[in-house]
Amino acid sequence: MLTIALPKGRVLRAVAPLLARAGADADGLLADDRTLVRETPAAGLRFLLLKPDDVPTYVEYGAADLGVCGRDVLLERPSDVYQPLDLGIGRCRMVVAGVAGKGAPAGIPRVATKYPRCATEHFARRGVQADVVPVQGSVELAPLVGLADLIVDLVETGTTLAQNGLEEREEVARISSVLVVNRAAYKLRHDRVGPFIEALRSSLHPAGSRAPDPGGPVDAGV
Ligand code: PRP
Repeated sequence: MLTIALPKGRVLRAVAPLLARAGADADGLLADDRTLVRETPAAGLRFLLLKPDDVPTYVEYGAADLGVCGRDVLLERPSDVYQPLDLGIGRCRMVVAGVAGKGAPAGIPRVATKYPRCATEHFARRGVQADVVPVQGSVELAPLVGLADLIVDLVETGTTLAQNGLEEREEVARISSVLVVNRAAYKLRHDRVGPFIEALRSSLHPAGSRAPDPGGPVDAGV
């Protein structure tokens, strides 16, 4: 069996049709129950449903052969996995945002984020000193109640920023979901892993079509 680690939630709903187009039987992937392992024995596939942040861990340590995860996860915690394919789903941007109409704070800005590493590197690249405060979610709340001056978070439609009176200040990175592959599985199980990657690639870029902008370099690495 090929074991594939998938993130629960929005991206899973986008991955299922993509797998189906690649000829992988993804029936049952979206079943509304609490099972964490879903198998399609006829296709030789086993899916693990995980918190998005955990996908690279399962793949790096070989508990899964392949996985799907956001670039944001890999930027925040670089993992020793191949990234052969940008899937063009889960597109969004990582941005710096602050209270609309409010100028830069006097002194060192405090920045709340689920992405402390990305935020620290972003401000360091710009030569700006910043005090980065890690939070786990509802990041947009932080500037509204004085926890922070700014946030670094993902924006997809912009609705969450707008509804909380925040505005984008800078772009940190463009994000999309990528395929990640265990290095040993890529070499030792290439008879299964290779065709799976190629089927996915073909389903993304049918002959003659234009490849979608991946929003940054993908480490072919294979
Ligand atoms: C993500 C992100 C933003 C929101 C952006 O949060 O952290 O809060 O989506 O989407 P929008 O631009 O379309 O409004 P998520 O829903 O994953 O929940 P979280 O706040 O718990 O991280």
